[in-house]
Amino acid sequence: MSSNDPFGTTGLADAGSVTHTPRMATSIRDLTKEYVLKSETVRALRGVSFDVPEGDYVAIMGPSGSGKSTLLNILGGLDHVTDGQVWFRDLDLTDMSDRQLTRYRRDHVGFVFQYYNLVPSLTARENVQLVTDVAPDPMPAAEALELVGLSTRMDHFPSELSGGEQQRGAIARAIAKRPEILLCDEPTGALDSTTGVQVLEALRDINDRFGTTTVVITHNAEIRRMAHRVIYFQDGKISRIEENDTLLAPSEIVW
Ligand SMILES: Nc1ncnc2c1ncn2[C@@H]1O[C@H](COP(=O)(O)OP(=O)(O)OP(=O)(O)O)[C@@H](O)[C@H]1O
Ligand SMILES: [Mg+2]
Repeated sequence: MSSNDPFGTTGLADAGSVTHTPRMATSIRDLTKEYVLKSETVRALRGVSFDVPEGDYVAIMGPSGSGKSTLLNILGGLDHVTDGQVWFRDLDLTDMSDRQLTRYRRDHVGFVFQYYNLVPSLTARENVQLVTDVAPDPMPAAEALELVGLSTRMDHFPSELSGGEQQRGAIARAIAKRPEILLCDEPTGALDSTTGVQVLEALRDINDRFGTTTVVITHNAEIRRMAHRVIYFQDGKISRIEENDTLLAPSEIVW
């Protein structure tokens, strides 16, 4: 981002405004996504609209095939929409070229996937450095690893880490560039309950500490109780949105 004030907000505080409207991290409107195959067209998203306020921790739930990953990929600039609109803050992603989307991902987005995708031949620290070496304003790799409780495991290779530690390493890699939005596709899907809780704690801690807007796809009904907002998908549409006033700590969640 070249400007120090990319959203033109400098000086607004002096304008005498007294009402505070939370700024939206992402907004989508009437989003559809179709995959055109030889024999059929799959309608993965069929008219989806919602807003995620800055700093929110959002869980997305719904049956297999209901469009959750498709949506996350679009929010993260990994895929184009068929119809409708998608914004990140004031940035309209809808018609961006691949090159512009790559830039958007690089500057703003952190991803965490179910399978950790750490490079096997690199240590935890080196895996994080892959990102910090190219990011404009990263935190030191050691700091990112410390935030997820891996300070004593930095020089371990992925094969020398447990599943939960590998996933926390992947989270460290995702947050080291200080993303404004963290997108997680079933981050605890491959983990048992204890390690799953450690990973959730790490995500929750980052959300609390940095206000990083976080969107987590999960099949685990209990995770939703630690989210500000839960969006339920069914057949490519939102069937329900719940808002939670009181959030459970990850350690209070029964698996
Ligand atoms: N690249 C693709 N080409 C064609 N169809 C696709 C593609 N990706 C996803 N789909 C289809 O789109 C629909 C939504 O898929 P999506 O991956 O978003 O589901 P999901 O809710 O993430 O499911 P799961 O919980 O199993 O991960 C499914 O019917 C799927 O088969
Ligand atoms: Mg999926």
